Amino acid sequence: MRQKIVAGNWKMNKNLQEGVQLAQEIDKLVSELKNNDVKVILAPSFVNITEVKKAVSSKISISSQNVAAEASGAYTGEVSASMIKSTGAEYAIIGHSERRMYYGETDAILLKKVKQALANNLKPIFCIGEVLEERESGKHFDVVKKQIEQGVFELSADEFKNVVLAYEPVWAIGTGKTASSDQAQEIHKFIRDTVAAKYGKAVAEETSILYGGSCKASNAKELFANPDVDGGLIGGAALVAGEFLGIITGF
Ligand code: PGA
Repeated sequence: MRQKIVAGNWKMNKNLQEGVQLAQEIDKLVSELKNNDVKVILAPSFVNITEVKKAVSSKISISSQNVAAEASGAYTGEVSASMIKSTGAEYAIIGHSERRMYYGETDAILLKKVKQALANNLKPIFCIGEVLEERESGKHFDVVKKQIEQGVFELSADEFKNVVLAYEPVWAIGTGKTASSDQAQEIHKFIRDTVAAKYGKAVAEETSILYGGSCKASNAKELFANPDVDGGLIGGAALVAGEFLGIITGF
């Protein structure tokens, strides 16, 4: 059975005190759940990862929102995979559309980041997704396939087994517009078939594929009910503990 995952991407929100408080609230709510089989991940900003990690129990895993493409050295302002790993974090979000759009992260750069993460035992949460014009002109399958091929298909099957994929249609991120349940299932199935064609059916069946884009407690159930949707990468709705819990319990 592949892992169900709900990951909160805090983006550039919450200072140290606010982040620690939110993490403690979420940890308390998650700890009270009976028989929870959902992996809960929090992704605070780099600067708060260490303290947020200390503030939560082992029921919560920590992710970064980005990682440097290089291992170490004269790269002012960058944060290496080894530094992230040394805080106790287990995951790294890579290729978020905001990184691709605002910071010029290309497929080639993202592949280097994925390799850095894996070399340091961080599991990449690799984001893919089309913009509105691509969806409207029916190019979304091609766009997503190319992003996967260029971002992660250079990996061996053993390396790829550590990758979580997150499908996030750019037109749904922070817009209040969600992909319909059918749209989500259709493209998640396509992504799983694409993985199966490359690494085989067994690997594809074990790959967690998350949906992201205006996912909240009120629509999580419908989205997560799909056979190929294994959870969510959550932005805005991850910033309020009760709302985030409603998503975690949405399976
Ligand atoms: P959103 O963001 O839930 O606020 O739409 C999702 C994401 O960008 O990961």
